[in-house]
Amino acid sequence: MADVELVIKDLRGSIEGKEILKGVNLTIKKGEVHALMGPNGSGKSTLAYLLMGHPKYQVDSGEVLYKGENILDMEPDERARNGLFLAFQYPSEIPGVSVSNFLRTALKAKSEASGNGKKGLSIPEFRRKLKEKMTLLQLDDSFASRYLNEGFSGGEKKRMEILQMAMLEPEMAILDETDSGLDIDALRTVAEGVNYCKEAYGMGILLITHYQRILHYIKPDHVHVMFDGRIIASGSSELAEELEAKGYEWLKEAFLAKEEVS
Ligand SMILES: Nc1ncnc2c1ncn2[C@@H]1O[C@H](COP(=O)(O)OP(=O)(O)OP(=O)(O)O)[C@@H](O)[C@H]1O
Ligand SMILES: [Mg+2]
Repeated sequence: MADVELVIKDLRGSIEGKEILKGVNLTIKKGEVHALMGPNGSGKSTLAYLLMGHPKYQVDSGEVLYKGENILDMEPDERARNGLFLAFQYPSEIPGVSVSNFLRTALKAKSEASGNGKKGLSIPEFRRKLKEKMTLLQLDDSFASRYLNEGFSGGEKKRMEILQMAMLEPEMAILDETDSGLDIDALRTVAEGVNYCKEAYGMGILLITHYQRILHYIKPDHVHVMFDGRIIASGSSELAEELEAKGYEWLKEAFLAKEEVS
């Protein structure tokens, strides 16, 4: 089998005719944590949506390979069944669908698609797993029967995204500002949930964030900075510390100066 890695090659993409991504290159291997930082509006969420196949976003050129296959031809659900997961910056409310039903349906779809003849979890097995993961994320039992995200606080929605991830056990997860809006304790809980997935089944992670704080808990192997639809700098976790101290201006200036010369 091909390596479990996500390879983004010179990806260009737009929304409603406006070019946002202007050639993104990035490779994420199983088990690696890549932090993606960068100013507001630089295209981070656009990249996340394009990778998951959101219909509003258009791929103009480039390639995205996952386990050696071009995923840009796949429907969003097919990408998910292949092991990709996106935690949204702004999770949607789904009135009428309980957390427990939603997760059971999603898990069933995943096990049916795996085509290995294995039946999905039995109801008691599912309940046990849900309980275990909810405890991990310190979510009260009552959340299981509530409608998905309806009336959830900002932080609760974020924890719910991580619960979905912990239940679905993806191989590669894109977490879009999962840390924003979390209180100090919830941040640690969410980070523990993410680290659990990383350790338990070697999940690869693209962690989109504005703050170095979460990177104290989820140690990045690489840090990238996006600006104007491109990755303009990459480095180790020290880069995140440098950004915290100096902001983005120095990187932008260096990038623009280089653009001018070429
Ligand atoms: N429908 C649209 N029409 C035109 N421009 C759009 C549309 N939707 C998004 N954009 C623009 O795309 C750019 C990239 O947005 P994106 O959400 O990817 O940024 P981001 O890096 O995730 O920012 P943030 O850090 O604030 O979350 C922004 O300038 C945004 O205004
Ligand atoms: Mg965003």
